[in-house]
Amino acid sequence: MKITIVGGGGFRVPLVYAALLEVSERLGVDELVLHDVDVERLARIENVLHGLAEESSRQLPFRSTTDLEAAVADADFVLCAIRVGLLEGRVVDESVPLSQGVLGQETTGPGGICFALRTIPAMMEIAEAVAEHAPDAWFINFTNPAGMVTEAVQRVLGDRAIGICDSPSGLCRRVAAALGRDPGELWFDYFGLNHLGWLKGVRDGKRDLLPDLLADDERLRGFEEGRLFGGEWLRSLGMVPNEYLYYFYYAAETVDAVRHSESSRGAYLLEQQREFYAHDGQSSSQALAGWRSTRHDRERTYMAEARLAAGDEGDHQPAGNTGYETEAIAVMEAIALNTRTTLILNTANRSSLSFLPERAVVEVPNTVGKAGPVPAAMGTVPAHARALVETMKDIEQRTIEAALTRSRDQAIAALALHPLVPSVRTARAIFDGYRARLPELEEAFS
Ligand code: G6P
Ligand code: MN
Repeated sequence: MKITIVGGGGFRVPLVYAALLEVSERLGVDELVLHDVDVERLARIENVLHGLAEESSRQLPFRSTTDLEAAVADADFVLCAIRVGLLEGRVVDESVPLSQGVLGQETTGPGGICFALRTIPAMMEIAEAVAEHAPDAWFINFTNPAGMVTEAVQRVLGDRAIGICDSPSGLCRRVAAALGRDPGELWFDYFGLNHLGWLKGVRDGKRDLLPDLLADDERLRGFEEGRLFGGEWLRSLGMVPNEYLYYFYYAAETVDAVRHSESSRGAYLLEQQREFYAHDGQSSSQALAGWRSTRHDRERTYMAEARLAAGDEGDHQPAGNTGYETEAIAVMEAIALNTRTTLILNTANRSSLSFLPERAVVEVPNTVGKAGPVPAAMGTVPAHARALVETMKDIEQRTIEAALTRSRDQAIAALALHPLVPSVRTARAIFDGYRARLPELEEAFS
C-alpha cells in the first residue's frame, strides 16, 4: 500500500508518521512519500521523522519529493494538509476583520472565508492530479477550512474525498470521560458542519445520557466545553456545542480578549514556527527534541483567546495521542481493513441532515468500511442550530463559487451574510482590507 502526504513539510506530519509507525505493518504500508513545495521545510521535518524512527523498534522508510504527480501516482491514500499563504496569510486572515471590530480567527468568520478563497484553487489542482494519477486513491483532507475545502474537491474526486477534524471526536471523548463511560460503547448524536457542530444526545442503548450531564454543574466544570460555555447556557441549548461555536455565542467577548492579548494566534505561531524551521544542521535527535517542545507550547496555548474570554485560566489539556492523526489513521484502517467503524467525518450529506442538499458536505457520524464512509441519518435538530447550519452552508457555497469563478460579488456576499459581520459596508471594508494585504487575492479579484 502506498500513502502520500501532501504538505509533507508541515509541522504536524511527525504526528502522522509516529502513528503510522504503529500501524503500517497491520495496514501493509510499503511506500510512504512526502510531498511539499518547500524543500527546506521538508528537510526539517524529515530530520524529525528520522529521530522518531530511531526511537522506534519499528520501521517505516519514506522518501520526499517536490514533484506532485510522482508523489501521488498510484497512491492508495493521499493525506493532504497544506497552508496556502503560510502563517503570514493566517495573520492577515485574523487581523483584517479585527480592524473592523469583527472576530479574527483562522476558520470561523471572515478569516475562514479569506483562507478558503486562496486555498480552494490550489486544492483543485491537487485534486486534479490525484484524479489523473491516482484514480483509486482515497483523499483524506485536513486542509482548513476543512468543510469548504472538502466540498470543493468533491467536485473532482466525489465521495473519495473525506474531510477530517479532530474536534468532534475530542468533544465526544471528553463528554464520555465526564460521564465515566467508555466512548467505544456509546453512540454520539453529533451533527453540523466543520467547526459548527453540536452534540445533541449520547445514547447507551437504554437512554440518552446527556440530560443528566447537562444538569450537573460539577461534572460540566470537569471538561473544556463545559467550562467554556457554562452550565446555564448549555442547559438553554440542551446540547453541547463544538468549541468553535464559542466564537458565535460569545463573539463580543472573544473580540475583546483577542484585542487585549499580546499577539494573535497566527502571529504567535508565526514566531514560534519560524524559530523551529530555522534550525539547520541539527542531529535528528536534536530536531525531534526541538519539535516536541515547540509542539508542547502550541498545544498548551490552543484556543487560549476563548479560554481567556471565558475566564478559564488553565492551559489546554491535550488528551494524549488523540489529534487529527488519530482520526486519519482510523479512517485508513476502517477502509483498508473494512472494519465498519463509526467515525465523525466530513462527507456528502446524502440524507443525513434532511434540510440540506445531498451533495452538501456535512460533519456527522459515518459508518466506514471498504466502500467508504456512509453518513448516519441524524433526525431532526433544534431550530436555531438548523438555521445556523443552513446560513453557514449558503455562505460556504458562495465562498466556493467565489473561489472557483473569481467572483467579487459572491465573495462580498459570503462575508456580508455571515452572522458575525454586522453590515454590508463592513463586509466590503474587510474584503478590501484582504485585497490590499494579499497580492494573490488582489490579482484574482481585480
Ligand atoms: C484544531 C482544529 C484544526 C485547527 C487547529 C488549530 O485542531 O480542529 O482544524 O487547524 O485546531 O490549531 P493551531 O495550533 O494551529 O491554532
Ligand atoms: Mn478542525
